[in-house]
Amino acid sequence: MDSAVGPATGGPDITPTNPYIGADGDFARVRPKEPDTEACYNPGMRILMTADLHFDIPRSREPACRLARRVCQCGGDVLVLLGDTAGADLGPLREGLAMFDDFSGVKLLVPGNHCLWCRPGETSLQRYHDILPAEAARAGFVLLDHCPQVLNGVGMVGSVGWYDYSLANASLGIPEPFYEAKLSPGAAAYVGQDELVDAHRASLTDRHLSLGVRWMDGRHVKLGMTDKAFVDTLAERLAAQLAEISQRVDQIVVFMHHLPLAEQVPRGRPDRLAFTAAFMGSQRFGQILLADEKVSHVYSGHSHWPDRRTVGRLTAVNVGSTYVEKQLEVLDL
Ligand SMILES: [Fe+2]
Ligand SMILES: [Fe+2]
Repeated sequence: MDSAVGPATGGPDITPTNPYIGADGDFARVRPKEPDTEACYNPGMRILMTADLHFDIPRSREPACRLARRVCQCGGDVLVLLGDTAGADLGPLREGLAMFDDFSGVKLLVPGNHCLWCRPGETSLQRYHDILPAEAARAGFVLLDHCPQVLNGVGMVGSVGWYDYSLANASLGIPEPFYEAKLSPGAAAYVGQDELVDAHRASLTDRHLSLGVRWMDGRHVKLGMTDKAFVDTLAERLAAQLAEISQRVDQIVVFMHHLPLAEQVPRGRPDRLAFTAAFMGSQRFGQILLADEKVSHVYSGHSHWPDRRTVGRLTAVNVGSTYVEKQLEVLDL
């Protein structure tokens, strides 16, 4: 998860200086079965995937290094990093990508929301269209969003994905402008967004006002457009890429950072985490994937919550890396 979360009890209290508090390890997790990377496979194509390496976060570095060693040792035909490899600073991104120097297969990179966090003077679209593709190329990766691939007759299409609040937890009853501001009502009051709070005062309860959560993209992402407009752009691009690739292959695997399906969002969580459901992804992407009969699999990350399910003929997998435990997925085709 990618949120700053205040304490579960007490008054509103956000932690603007530490964007990484509290999301992981709060709940019992059901681990998906470990992929058997030692098993022989024959002949086909092996795709390895991981996500959310967060190489800029100290407690993520050692587990990320361990996973990278495992990837390089077991090998494969394709490696895909599914976003949040690092944050705004390019140093950790370069270090994180370099960990896979010894992987001899094709290396594909999908950005995450943290990858679109900006250094001073940058925009997130500059990072998406120019900076990250250049960094990827420098490290022997291809930024998949901009360069769909066909390998061994299988199409591979990628997108950072984004959120349009279509996955928000409606039972919270929080008005949409708070999601647009990426502040829960309690956090908005805490940081002095009085106009926002006053405009919705009549519909806010004590439960809302005691909820102190800030989604840190609000501080670090500079899209120059609304989240919904960005989703529109990405959805149109994904649909166009699928239409083009579908003419050339019988099977397509899609790689995203954000979640494409509402079913993938963890439910039954406390309010402070339920608020962040709005930022998990968009159903727009799922609708596009389900409409293309050649899309067999979609892999994603971002929620830090492992999940594997079948929706129609689509197998949807969330890798489920956390800040301290990195996961590897294997797909043999
Ligand atoms: Fe992440
Ligand atoms: Fe993320």
